[in-house]
Amino acid sequence: MTKKLWGGRFTKEQDPLFWKFQSSIDYDKELARYDVEASIAHAKMLGKCRIIPKKHAQAIVGGLSQILKNIEKGTFVVDPKAEDIHTAVYLALVKKKPKSADYLHTARSRNDQVVVDLLLYCKDKLSVITDQIKALQYSLAAFAEKNIDVIIPGLTHTQHAVPVLLAHQVLAYLNMLQRDIERLAQVKERCDIMPLGSCALAGTSLTIDRAYVAKLLGFSKVNENSIDAVSDRDFVIEILSAISIMFMHFSRFAEDMIIYSTPEFNIVDIGEAFCTGSSIMPQKKNPDSLELIRASCSQAYANLVSAMVMMKGLPLSYNRDMQLDKKPLFDSINLTETVLAILKGLVESMKVNKEKIQQRLADDESIFALDMAEYLVSRGVAFSEAHNVVGKVVVHATKNNVRISNIELDELKGFAKEFDSDVFNLLDAKRSVMSKRSIGSTNPLLVRQQLKKWHKKK
Ligand code: ARG
Repeated sequence: MTKKLWGGRFTKEQDPLFWKFQSSIDYDKELARYDVEASIAHAKMLGKCRIIPKKHAQAIVGGLSQILKNIEKGTFVVDPKAEDIHTAVYLALVKKKPKSADYLHTARSRNDQVVVDLLLYCKDKLSVITDQIKALQYSLAAFAEKNIDVIIPGLTHTQHAVPVLLAHQVLAYLNMLQRDIERLAQVKERCDIMPLGSCALAGTSLTIDRAYVAKLLGFSKVNENSIDAVSDRDFVIEILSAISIMFMHFSRFAEDMIIYSTPEFNIVDIGEAFCTGSSIMPQKKNPDSLELIRASCSQAYANLVSAMVMMKGLPLSYNRDMQLDKKPLFDSINLTETVLAILKGLVESMKVNKEKIQQRLADDESIFALDMAEYLVSRGVAFSEAHNVVGKVVVHATKNNVRISNIELDELKGFAKEFDSDVFNLLDAKRSVMSKRSIGSTNPLLVRQQLKKWHKKK
């Protein structure tokens, strides 16, 4: 029988199926290094405050440091019979320092221990993910710069709307990712609060030094309410929420690129490294990477909902239900790391089909309808009237199967006398984007400025 951290009052063994059901070692082993780091800090503090004999504190720190090295080398073997990672680390310490190990679990409980482990894990992972988002932003910015002269049909309702710079649209993704970074930074700040020493829920009568532990572990504050500290999983939910929002962005980007890579749109070409083929149709090159990213958004949402529902209505303080925060958290973090890495490679593999895009813009002159309406506005026509007039011109062209540029000026004047020969200059995508004036618009000068500003952020 494997030793437990709570065996004393029990006379009988647990039911084997229940034992397996309640064990978290399969997944909370992910917390191994954080559990050891927190325990090292705790042992140092117990020694410094003379709560346990110095020589035992030193022996514990020595033993845990060896375990940490094994974790880093990947040679730490968790006892599969251990109930959880806290027990597994304790059992490993017992093997290394049998005379001292039992002094470690003083003035702490697994309730505060699991929170400190989780917070350390989250702080680390949030840094890694933030760096990955920045790397993706750089790849997107490089893609935008490389294609700075490319104009595409801007869409609303997935219908041709107004010509926009491709770089302008890429900057939209960059802005979304920037807000994702900000959201994660805000949560990271809330993760910067040290819970150890809250013990089961009420603190301890022993004279511990919590500020010292916080300093050793790199936390800037200690929590001021021990009940809240062991009961709080808001930070897990906030991370899952920020990740869900980020996956919404990923899925929208994925959807755009899936559409853009169809023969109908033909705007981008996704590198073969991120596509797969069909087992029956030899010609197929399918954007499966993007489809799976679009779909994995549901996994991120499911993890958020799982944690939210698990926490709902739980009485204070710690309840074992909270053990089930880890699977969704780890799953979403791992998913995010994978998807961010794939997206970066995918963006770097993307090529733009410039000729095909030009052709499409030239084929559909109705995309300049707003430019024509604003032309009339600049000649004193009220916008609603201009809107009406240009709408009629577009219908006339469609019905009679003529290009707007082929309509005679006299005929156009029949729609509005304000039309003049220079109206035909409007039917040009480059001119259209250049004509935009407002802050944040698709004007190439402004888009270049936006890109530059973004570069300064690096
Ligand atoms: N595995 C538990 C969790 O993840 C650790 C805390 C156990 N605490 C307890 N009182 N049983 O929440």
